[in-house]
Amino acid sequence: MTIEFFVNGMPVLVQADPMKRLLDILRENLSMAGTKEGCGEGECGACSVLMDGRLVNSCLIPMAQVEGTRVETIDGLRESAAGQILSEAFAEAHSVQCGFCTPGMMMATLALLKGNPDPTEGEIRLALSGNICRCTGYDMIIDGVMLAARRAREQGVAW
Ligand code: FES
Ligand code: FES
Repeated sequence: MTIEFFVNGMPVLVQADPMKRLLDILRENLSMAGTKEGCGEGECGACSVLMDGRLVNSCLIPMAQVEGTRVETIDGLRESAAGQILSEAFAEAHSVQCGFCTPGMMMATLALLKGNPDPTEGEIRLALSGNICRCTGYDMIIDGVMLAARRAREQGVAW
């Protein structure tokens, strides 16, 4: 079937099996390899994207559900001012080691900060609870999110 939707603000049209996963369409058809596949079963959050502003695991989303939606991915976030702040904060706070979980962590952070630009540590931990990191432990990731949130507030940058 033909499926029309938006990715990072750009309209796209794909021919796809309605049961094909959004994750595969992003990576294979649209060459947006920033979104990662970890478990492929909805457990790790590596494949996180926003769909109409809501955080979802793209490995669990069949294309039949994507028609007409607005999808935001790490490839779009990293081009934005907010994405730059987040990347720099993660680097400074040593939030990244192998980096495999980082795109998903950043999309979960974006989803949180869009609605709550000044979160508590507990709110951040809850917001990132669906994202698994095998490398850092979580404290440095929380520090990175706190730093990014503060910088965005100071600089008046919107999520
Ligand atoms: S790859 Fe989608 S949640 Fe793990
Ligand atoms: S930095 Fe390696 S899995 Fe998180």
